[in-house]
Amino acid sequence: MNVLVVGGAGYIGSHCVRQLQLAGHRPVVLDSLVFGHRAAVAPDVPFFDAELGDEEAVGAILQSESIDVVMHFAAFAYVGESVSDPLKYYFNNSVATLHLLRAMLKQNVKKFVFSSTCATYGVPQDLPIVESTPQAPINPYGQTKLDVENALKATAHAHGLSFAAFRYFNAAGAAEDGSIGEDHNPETHLIPLVIDAATGKRPNIQIFGTDYPTPDGTCLRDYVHVDDLSRAHIAVFDKLEEPGAAHFLNLGTGTPTSVREVISTVEKVTGKKVPVVESPRRDGDPPALYANAAKAKTELGWQVQYPDIESTVRTAWKWHSAHPNGYADR
Ligand code: UFG
Repeated sequence: MNVLVVGGAGYIGSHCVRQLQLAGHRPVVLDSLVFGHRAAVAPDVPFFDAELGDEEAVGAILQSESIDVVMHFAAFAYVGESVSDPLKYYFNNSVATLHLLRAMLKQNVKKFVFSSTCATYGVPQDLPIVESTPQAPINPYGQTKLDVENALKATAHAHGLSFAAFRYFNAAGAAEDGSIGEDHNPETHLIPLVIDAATGKRPNIQIFGTDYPTPDGTCLRDYVHVDDLSRAHIAVFDKLEEPGAAHFLNLGTGTPTSVREVISTVEKVTGKKVPVVESPRRDGDPPALYANAAKAKTELGWQVQYPDIESTVRTAWKWHSAHPNGYADR
């Protein structure tokens, strides 16, 4: 398949590009490089520095590269910022995606894979989260992703678009060979921050909340390896052959891991002590989010290759220890 990877220079997108190549597909990357890294994409992959909302530019690429499937990873994903600057999120995550979809329909490209999120569930009543768990986002970030899910459903019905919307839990880890990995600026995610605290790049890690109703008082999350996420995107291709197919699938390991468990795993993997500061809760953090990913297993035959936090943290450590300054070290 010729696959346009929108946001292919970002964290998850760049890993998916690699997996597409390994599976024998032909990725083409579109990325505005606002957050993406040119060095995260191999030089042999066609690369277009363009805006996903630019229908003319996207249309030209869809045509010239004979694109069969579009994967869309490009979104702003800072929950706190989405609360303080909601229009930035509505324009970039929702409106720009609608332009991308319209450019696709104009070129008769009707297969789409979308990066959605467990943030669409808000604070779930029941755990683990299944796809039918009510979606009630508690911030604009989650709302913009849910808005796109709804637009996709309607577009599938009206125009025969076939799509998969993957609801990611906490994407984590890095390529097994340590060549690409996570490099956000600013970084807000737990695992890279804990690694920085272990190496002394940061003075400590703040634990946001130690009084949650969880076994050790810290939040539970479901850390799923970025290459496992990527493989699901490829496994769904067969399902997109049917016009109008609509798939909503959770992608997680199903195993909850606490903040304290992440810290002790980083200490074990790095062999270094992590200085910890117990801090107040961070606004908007649900106490526990973890997936029931049985649907992806049944429908796609998806099996995670990194089922435990230690194997995921090992890959993150390989990347961060070789590239303490991220892509600036490449
Ligand atoms: N945490 C800390 N200290 C830190 C950073 C994080 O204790 O310095 C805690 C958080 O409170 C949370 C856990 O570590 O309990 C994980 O936090 P992350 O910021 O790494 O990830 P989130 O669970 O907040 O966010 C993830 C995705 C988002 C998505 C969100 C849905 O990264 O894109 O899940 O809730 F929106």
